[in-house]
Amino acid sequence: MARIIGGVATSHVPAIGAAIDHGRMGDAYWQPVAKGYEPSKKWLAEQKPDVVFLVYNDHASAFSLEIIPTFALGCAETFPIADEGWGPRKVPAVQGHPDLAWHIAQSTILDEFDITIVNKMAVDHGLTVPLSLLCGQPAAWPFRVIPLCVNVIQYPPPTAHRCYMLGKAIRKAIESFDQDLRVVVFGTGGMSHQLQGPRAGLINKEFDRRFLDRFATDPEALTRIPHVDFIREAGSEGIELVMWLIMRGALEDDAKEVYRFYHVPASNTAVGHMILENKRAA
Ligand code: DHB
Ligand code: FE
Repeated sequence: MARIIGGVATSHVPAIGAAIDHGRMGDAYWQPVAKGYEPSKKWLAEQKPDVVFLVYNDHASAFSLEIIPTFALGCAETFPIADEGWGPRKVPAVQGHPDLAWHIAQSTILDEFDITIVNKMAVDHGLTVPLSLLCGQPAAWPFRVIPLCVNVIQYPPPTAHRCYMLGKAIRKAIESFDQDLRVVVFGTGGMSHQLQGPRAGLINKEFDRRFLDRFATDPEALTRIPHVDFIREAGSEGIELVMWLIMRGALEDDAKEVYRFYHVPASNTAVGHMILENKRAA
């Protein structure tokens, strides 16, 4: 049986990817971020996951406005690194786990979540920056990755509650897979940030801190936040936080917070990060 051993929530700020790739994480500006993720790298290496189920969003790299899947599940053998304008990041290609991905597609669709199955998809900073933050610069990623790409770009994105319930369906799917795999679920994006318009640069530390507190102990309260409140309080890109709730729904209700990091600023964004462990699955 496959088991979910824990969850990682993290921002995906693209400038962090550039700083890692260009050897700048020792600079005064980036040092706090580098230090903040040191315990996380150690934690993930110790967990030795076979598979990371990674919830993220594409930024007009794999999907344009021509096709906008709400939930796109990557079932391919490999996922190439997207060219976001400066050539693809020089990070390893992502190896998928088609057997588990197809099992999750079948289980969640039969549970009435209308997932889009994707067999070809380049992955952008939304997926690669979290991997770099948690793994550094390995020659190959040390686990398979199943990407779940969520539309948080074009209105209407899925609701926080829908995301949380999908997380629960994903947990059921993973736990009914008949291979003995250790799985870690990533929920990425956030925290508060807005990249455009008169409110560009918005950071709301109070909202972020409250979100982090509730994320650990009362995630159901967060599932009642409407889109307009995410955007009003956390900025237009703060809506990315609904993706964290897929990860939280996939964990046990009483999963234990084992690490938290919060830092402002990184580029235009508040960096938020939390690790939770399932109590019963270790
Ligand atoms: C920034 C943050 C994002 O989440 C993103 O997708 C692009 C840019 C930023 O802070 O600059
Ligand atoms: Fe983003």
